Amino acid sequence: MDWSALRKRFPAVATQTYLNTASYGLPPDTVADCVRQAVDDWANGRVDFYHWEGAGERARSSFARLIGGSPDGVALVPTVAMAVAQIAERIPAQTRTNIVVGHSEFRSNLYPWLVQERRGLELRLVEFRDGGPDLDGLIAAIDENTALVAVSAVQSASGYRIDLETLGQACRERGARLFVDATQAVGVFDQPLEVIDYLAVGAYKWLLGPRGASFLYVRPELAADIDPVFPGWRSTEKRFTDFYGPPLEFSPRALRFDTGLAYFAWVGLAESLEFLLEIGIDQIRQRDVQLAELFCQRLPQVGLEPLFGPTTRSQIVSLKVPNADETKERLRERKVVAAVRGPYLRVSFHLYNDESDVDAVIAALS
Ligand SMILES: Cc1ncc(COP(=O)(O)O)c(C=O)c1O
Repeated sequence: MDWSALRKRFPAVATQTYLNTASYGLPPDTVADCVRQAVDDWANGRVDFYHWEGAGERARSSFARLIGGSPDGVALVPTVAMAVAQIAERIPAQTRTNIVVGHSEFRSNLYPWLVQERRGLELRLVEFRDGGPDLDGLIAAIDENTALVAVSAVQSASGYRIDLETLGQACRERGARLFVDATQAVGVFDQPLEVIDYLAVGAYKWLLGPRGASFLYVRPELAADIDPVFPGWRSTEKRFTDFYGPPLEFSPRALRFDTGLAYFAWVGLAESLEFLLEIGIDQIRQRDVQLAELFCQRLPQVGLEPLFGPTTRSQIVSLKVPNADETKERLRERKVVAAVRGPYLRVSFHLYNDESDVDAVIAALS
């Protein structure tokens, strides 16, 4: 892969060291062009409903390819919180009576579960250790009354990557469902779909799409079990041919969970997913992880260390620094864009970064 030619496709990295994909990914030139074209078409009255709906369908099948699942399991939704709610709100409160979730999960994958306490479900919150939910603690909390375990594949604050195979196996053995927020993982790491029941992914970070487009993946054989929380004209198989009146006939596929599309977001995302698939996730993972590891190796030069060892590390590296906000500002003055999450300074590496970015952030930290 010619990474330096690829880097030139991202104008934003020519003038800064951008290490903040965990907050917001950058679009390659063709993705920004597609969105501009769509805005231009709109402004000039060339609105093409079927073309824009087609972008959503392209994104659905590309996302299925990206995760190695069936398009029949993929729903198109605006945000992760809405994806989580569609499952959380439908958990029956009578049969299995508890939900297991990490105490300090990102709130889009926490509040929709916590609010189920009001329906009588018991919430078992598992403490975090070193930036992630303790795997043994999660497994110990699962019993024969556990309906579901919810977790992030990669924690957004710390970059902690959980062992989903082991967690998923424990869920299977006890008959609990597994819900994974893979917003900080898909596009970089493969997900073990054989042990995952539900997967939510926000696409404006590692998938390089505009804000407003997210996916809910439901294991296809589970899709017809529950009604959508936000049903509408896109929830039926007749969605492009017939828009009015009863009967209530939800698609048996996960598209029953679709809501209306924010077209500009989906036009951009359809393009960015094809761009990523062309490069290939294996190459992207190797690149991102290699840069993150190089950064970790060089941290001792500036008297710092990563939060945890390589087995749970990811493309996101968070650090304990004396004053994270002040450090972030100091980096910003040197055109290095990082973030602060909780007590940590967070940097994250994606395919448009290179070794010069590692040099720049190490120099700025010293
Ligand atoms: C782990 C994780 N999930 C989800 C989101 C986005 O949530 P939502 O789409 O509900 O705004 C983020 C954004 O930072 C995130 O880090």
